[in-house]
Amino acid sequence: MKKKIAVLTGAGVSAESGLGTYRDNGGLWDNYDPMEVASIQGWYKNRKLVLDFYNMQRAKLKDTKPNAAHLAIAALEKDYDVTVITQNVDNLHEKAGSTKVIHLHGEATKVRPENGVYEESFSEREVIDVGYEPVNLGDKAPNGCQLRPHIVFFGESVPKIEPAIDVVAAADLLLIVGTSMQVYPAAGLYRYADPKAPIYVVDPADLPLHDPRITHIKDVATKGMEKFIKILEER
Ligand code: APR
Repeated sequence: MKKKIAVLTGAGVSAESGLGTYRDNGGLWDNYDPMEVASIQGWYKNRKLVLDFYNMQRAKLKDTKPNAAHLAIAALEKDYDVTVITQNVDNLHEKAGSTKVIHLHGEATKVRPENGVYEESFSEREVIDVGYEPVNLGDKAPNGCQLRPHIVFFGESVPKIEPAIDVVAAADLLLIVGTSMQVYPAAGLYRYADPKAPIYVVDPADLPLHDPRITHIKDVATKGMEKFIKILEER
């Protein structure tokens, strides 16, 4: 049986594809207020602003290609049972060929009906893949409700956290790539790793991680993945 690798990724894995991160200098949250464009309060305050923000994010993905790090993660499937848990709303892991991807924070290419008070309680069957097309005020789902981005807004629960915890807990090795580990519950996932499972972190920055199992490969995703693969081959 193949050994299991859980890979947790953040915006840093897509940085070398030309997609900006959120919290680095000049990142998305330097130019936009996340509470205005990516929170549930922001949605109710100004739906058009939020739709436009995600229309822009979605359109950018059309011509964005996976980089060597996404490809290296996908190639791990040859020898390992790999599940990617990504905080990213882009589709670059899928474009690279990864077959098991859990999108913790939703997907920019998808929308679903707005359902009122319990926004998080939706059925997967209601989710619509719009590809790279814009969605505007007045665009309705078959049930007559306004369409909203299929995104976990700040202030909403993270429905995929339970399956993600199971994947991390069952993994023989955990690899974390390109996340500042500032947003919970994703940032706490590594604590569920098996005590015997090594944890590798690929990120050019120092991170607030304190666990003796962690080996920090302090490099950008593409180069860091090359180093990680070498380590894996030598293990
Ligand atoms: N390669 C690898 N890592 C990189 C690179 C690179 N080329 N460039 C930057 N990084 C690292 C940064 O050092 C940082 O640790 O990527 C991380 C990006 O951190 P954030 O911008 O905070 O992104 P992320 O951790 O994915 O954010 C989590 O916050 O706003 C929300 O929903 C949004 O999913 C997102 C969540």
